[in-house]
Amino acid sequence: MDFTAVACNLLTKKTDCLVITLNGRTENNTVQKSNAWNSVDSATGGLLSRLQKKGDIKETLGSSVLINEPKGLAATRLLILGSGTKILDEQLFLTLTKNLAGKLTKLPIKNSCISLEGIEVDGRDNAWQAQQLARQLGEANYLFNPFKAKDKKFSSLKQITLAQSSRKGLEQLKQQLNLGKAVANGVNVSRELGDLPGNICTPSYLAIQAKKLAKKHPRLSCKVLDEKQMKALGMHSLLSVTAGTEQPAKLIVLEYTGTKKGDKPVVLVGKGVTFDSGGISLKPGAAMDEMKYDMCGAASVLGTFTALIETNLALNVVGIIPAVENMPGGKATKPGDIVKSMSGQTIEILNTDAEGRLILCDALTYAGRFKPKSVVDIATLTGACVMALGSHATGLLSNNDALAATLETAGQTSGDRVWRLPLWKEYDKQLKSNFADMANIGGRAAGTITAACFLGRFTKDYHWAHLDIAGTAWNSGANKGATGRPVPLLTQFLVDQITS
Ligand code: BES
Ligand code: MN
Ligand code: ZN
Repeated sequence: MDFTAVACNLLTKKTDCLVITLNGRTENNTVQKSNAWNSVDSATGGLLSRLQKKGDIKETLGSSVLINEPKGLAATRLLILGSGTKILDEQLFLTLTKNLAGKLTKLPIKNSCISLEGIEVDGRDNAWQAQQLARQLGEANYLFNPFKAKDKKFSSLKQITLAQSSRKGLEQLKQQLNLGKAVANGVNVSRELGDLPGNICTPSYLAIQAKKLAKKHPRLSCKVLDEKQMKALGMHSLLSVTAGTEQPAKLIVLEYTGTKKGDKPVVLVGKGVTFDSGGISLKPGAAMDEMKYDMCGAASVLGTFTALIETNLALNVVGIIPAVENMPGGKATKPGDIVKSMSGQTIEILNTDAEGRLILCDALTYAGRFKPKSVVDIATLTGACVMALGSHATGLLSNNDALAATLETAGQTSGDRVWRLPLWKEYDKQLKSNFADMANIGGRAAGTITAACFLGRFTKDYHWAHLDIAGTAWNSGANKGATGRPVPLLTQFLVDQITS
């Protein structure tokens, strides 16, 4: 899908589908018409006014009317979309554009010209609207069916033109459309990896995908460490998780050099458990298939790097993906086993299902080698986070207030929101072990926080934030599927590193 922005006359614009909006009511309860509405209305001989009077066109959010071969317009179709209220917040605008994208991608059209005139988003400019529109259209074009006989087809929609009445700010609009497109491509890469089953998306598969990605860009390189190399580094905590499986573990390292070599990089660390059976502390059977999504942290790193190389951002970024499968077996790690992490600290593994932190702690120690500006890890780490925040916010925990605030801001800007939880030392005490420096679990209470406290013991040398995406990375139920979150958040976070 290609995007552009133009200043044009909507009435004479040749397009398969012209989109205009009917804006919602203002405080004094009148429906305010945009210039776009008024000019289309008079060109069509008052058709819009008549349809509105009859109640066929409503201004409520999500309602729409499609008019074929509208008289008086050069467009083949006219789609009128209700925007709800006149002034929207970020989430409402995302709902609106997602809805629009769903409708447009189902029509038998090749191109569309969209005018969002009259829509205001509180605190956001037209360029922001353009980015989110492009992102929603790109995301609506995601298709996952490598395994179904009946072919679903990609949308025929290939060209989107965002129209405005003046030439002012067109360049910025185009830039933001391209950024939105890049984010959508990153989201879709991440979703595809998440949706692939565990028998295909193995640690080796993730490593191959990372290598392929690195080939696409001269400033991106990738190296993959095997188990022997990890053993030499002393990553016995990570390796304890892979003991029960036949699948070899991989440590994937991506390096993007978008600016001077000496500039400190942002490091993204993504949990890549390609299937989490729980190991010897076996999970119950219900919904265990969803543990193929336990590599969504890794997928979000690969998705973010996809957006990064498409936009050529001028900063240095390192991606680290510890990739393993967590299985029971004759050689599997047992509850009570004690391992020594790369940091030298010892861990009593009281529950082999708390495996994410065991691979992340060694990856986080490894991250220190890059003298990072900051480190953000992304992990489907705890079921407790799903209980605390549901599917709306990603859990955020950090040892640095400025870094946490930057992530909160990026969440607000992208609509891919986070909510911060405390990392107080009182919680950390729950990790006490009688036999090692720490246990890998901290009891039932505050499970998301004690998991983060565990990681915090390995991140003392740098500014660090942890994103628990257990509730946000995929949808369960009838619409089961990966969401691609938090690629929008991470991409915005990287963009903000340059501008701030
Ligand atoms: N991958 C799971 C976390 C998870 C569970 C995410 C369900 C989304 C839905 C993680 O490895 C895990 O099993 N965590 C345990 C930790 C516990 C043993 C301390 C959990 O949350 O139950
Ligand atoms: Mn687990
Ligand atoms: Zn897990």
